[in-house]
Amino acid sequence: MNLILLGPPGAGKGTQAKLLAERRGIPQISTGDMLRAAVKAGTPLGREAQAIMERGELVPDEIVIGLFHDRSSQADAAGGFILDGFPRTVTQAEALRKILSERGRRIDRVVSIDVAEDELVGRIVGRRTCRSCQAMYHVKASPPKVAGRCDRCGGELHQRADDNEDTVRERLRVYRSQTEPLIAYYDREGVVRRVPGTGPIEPIFAAIRAAIEA
Ligand code: AP5
Ligand code: MG
Repeated sequence: MNLILLGPPGAGKGTQAKLLAERRGIPQISTGDMLRAAVKAGTPLGREAQAIMERGELVPDEIVIGLFHDRSSQADAAGGFILDGFPRTVTQAEALRKILSERGRRIDRVVSIDVAEDELVGRIVGRRTCRSCQAMYHVKASPPKVAGRCDRCGGELHQRADDNEDTVRERLRVYRSQTEPLIAYYDREGVVRRVPGTGPIEPIFAAIRAAIEA
């Protein structure tokens, strides 16, 4: 099954994609995580992406399309994948369609996670991420047992460079103008299901699972 989790920054795409990946045994493909890994490794791509991401703008389409193409060609994605943060523009959605159709595949379901803007800002500013395993926490909603340390692997928790209020506002603006139109784009194919993304994580996960089956 090939799934897309769509939603604004902070909607819970990463949180829910990790749970789904575990449950379904297919990988989460997050272009944001891949770009952050490139920034950390200091590759030419990472150097190009870093300033763009810190401004809250979108990295050029051809770069993220290439990242998706390479990652989705790996053996563990042969049985499907969960896309988190890709596609983000109509150009990316068209490229995704072409790549999948060449493989005789299609997008089976798009789950759009809805959360009000004020809540998104609070979530993002309070988010902490593990440097080692990328597990996510929130200082209030889901704090780690030991401050600053990952429950799962003991790694150091840090705040993403783009998780400050000014950048979040820009990311939200970019989402509304460039990515939200993808809901209508996929709605034409009848594959979109909208799920409210507010409240505890587990019931949202259950609603997403139900939306995938529906
Ligand atoms: P990306 O990494 O994709 O970030 P994003 O879309 O801005 O989304 P986030 O990761 O901030 O939020 P999320 O929906 O994953 O929420 P999460 O589960 O973490 O992209 C970053 C940048 O990379 C982009 O701005 C762009 O520059 C570039 N980029 C990436 N992909 C690209 C592409 N395809 N094209 C071009 N550029 C691209 O949850 C957020 C917080 O809330 C966490 O602290 C979590 O613990 C908490 N939380 C989760 N669920 C709940 C809940 N139900 N209640 C309370 N708190 C919750
Ligand atoms: Mg994310």
